[in-house]
Amino acid sequence: HEPQRKVEMSIAELTKTHCSAPDGTDHSVITWVNEIATLTQPDEIVWCTGSAEEADQLAELMVEAGTLTRLNDEYRPHSFLARSDPSDVARVESRTFICSVNESDAGPSNNWAPPAEMRTTLDGLFASSMRGRRMFVVPFSMGPLGSPLAKIGVQVTDSPYVVMSMGIMTRMGTAVLESIDDSTEWVRAIHSVGAPLAANDTDVPWPCNQTKYISHFPETREIWSFGSAYGGNAILAKKSFALRIASVIARDEGWLAEHMLLLKLTNPRGRVFHIAAAFPSACGKTNLAMIKPTIPGWKAETIGDDIAWLGKGADGRLRAINPEAGFFGVAPGTGYSTNETAMDTIWGNTVFTNVALKDNGDVWWEGMTDEAPEHLIDWQGNDWTPESGTPSSHPNSRFTVAAAQCPTIADDWESPQGVVIDAIIFGGRRATNVPLVVEARDWEHGVYLGATISSERTAAAEGTIGELRRDPFAMMPFCGYNMADHWAHWLSVGQDLRTSGTVPRIFQVNWFRKGPDGSFLWPGFGENSRVLEWILDRVDGQLAARDSALGLLPRDGDLNIHGLELSDETMQQLFAIDTDSWKAEAASTEEFFATFDGRVPAAVTRQLEHLKARLDA
Ligand code: GDP
Ligand code: PGA
Ligand code: MN
Repeated sequence: HEPQRKVEMSIAELTKTHCSAPDGTDHSVITWVNEIATLTQPDEIVWCTGSAEEADQLAELMVEAGTLTRLNDEYRPHSFLARSDPSDVARVESRTFICSVNESDAGPSNNWAPPAEMRTTLDGLFASSMRGRRMFVVPFSMGPLGSPLAKIGVQVTDSPYVVMSMGIMTRMGTAVLESIDDSTEWVRAIHSVGAPLAANDTDVPWPCNQTKYISHFPETREIWSFGSAYGGNAILAKKSFALRIASVIARDEGWLAEHMLLLKLTNPRGRVFHIAAAFPSACGKTNLAMIKPTIPGWKAETIGDDIAWLGKGADGRLRAINPEAGFFGVAPGTGYSTNETAMDTIWGNTVFTNVALKDNGDVWWEGMTDEAPEHLIDWQGNDWTPESGTPSSHPNSRFTVAAAQCPTIADDWESPQGVVIDAIIFGGRRATNVPLVVEARDWEHGVYLGATISSERTAAAEGTIGELRRDPFAMMPFCGYNMADHWAHWLSVGQDLRTSGTVPRIFQVNWFRKGPDGSFLWPGFGENSRVLEWILDRVDGQLAARDSALGLLPRDGDLNIHGLELSDETMQQLFAIDTDSWKAEAASTEEFFATFDGRVPAAVTRQLEHLKARLDA
């Protein structure tokens, strides 16, 4: 019995793109693909190889279908613009479900539906949903193929846009399929835009369905996504697998799947650090991952900008990999003055979604340059001028580009063992209350800081922009199990690290505190390197800190603001702790914890009591 050879034979058979299973094969992927094809009834099955020719052919087809506009090669070589349906522009959290067997395992912060009921609903929706379309089979690896920390998935989809995106965001193709044998565990991901075509129907540029379901079955490691082609809903390797399903696998196996960027920093003395930082969507992960330090002597290199898988290495230290192979970044606000590295990454070979088209065939969005071009075609395909009074690009418009193209990518970004994590940072978008930087007193206090992140809503998901909401560990929309159990899991990972090695220090940052006039107090972007310097000098044992009710703060003069025009008053406002506001915040935390039916770990509740006592003192 030689499963390896059997797969190869089957691939050869199936690349002929037909619907029926080749005789005599029982490979798990083929069996499953045939089950899905029987349900969804595509006209054709295409097994994606991951080759460059395949990507070019797909792009050509999408240009013909009107899904993509080819950009001017002179300005943006081998790049494309996609305009989505105006209703399909962001993640839909209200349509995202965790269908665990027990409702309590999904917890109060996830939408739950009984698995059997959801399967019935999905069977109905997916029945013949790919009629008139091609079903692509996309085998992918999260993490370098063959790394002990990597995981395999297979996505089927009827969206060529999703295939193209998966080709950029993951390691995709035949080599992955060939690595799957009878003993391989792999995640099943089924995606349909939910827009079957009858014989005489003409297609639209961005097929989708008003009914949307992004459903996860944690126990069987399955994802079913219907009705949307937007990245976070449809590129199932990303938020659905690498966070929602992977967080459950990680809980079961003793590691962590987190919404974190990974950054390598070298200080002027030559010491190398790696940090992992969790911020909610559109709160600065990609920017920090690509930071250009403004302070002399520091070097920053990118490892990942959105997702990190962390676990105890053989050396007893916390190690992390970036499971992705590309960036799906927010376009607006990205310019040479804010994120030069991103601008230099997206010079070509990039798919842009919902940005504006310039008359010269290049792209533009708000914040790319200070001055807007005189004329554009906006993200909905309409003429636009600076007088139009609407943004030319959707606030959640995106670029999709290979990580390897990033000029600051670290040489160890694909290290199969992962990099050693020296510090963990939690953050959010807070106009008030949260200081520029705080250090946790210990791991337990750090877990409390992560558990109590609140952040103002952004355009990355549906909802009212600016509204404050709880987003523990920046994982509120992404934790595949009960959030309170996630905190308990973090505590146990800390315990485990303590017994065998070093425990990384935990910090909280807030780049978004505002002054009385409503403008940001802190310059942000490259200047955030000053905060990283303080954090890593602390890790390096170079600095003492001052205690406060919230945790450890920089002593006066320790945070390097040399060369910045920041008044004493601004500095005071950046670190101000308003006792009454914090008492209100603690009361709201108590209410939030109460929603978890007694599942909040005692160590976390103890931290809340400690905070309340400090505020009263
Ligand atoms: P991500 O979705 O977490 O990766 O967030 P991004 O890095 O893409 O940033 C989201 C938005 O926040 C963009 O418009 C950025 O320009 C903006 N942003 C990022 N970092 C900072 C910062 O330090 N200060 C301010 N004021 N804005 C920032
Ligand atoms: P992000 O999320 O804003 O964290 O990059 C991307 C998404 O919408 O899936
Ligand atoms: Mn990002």
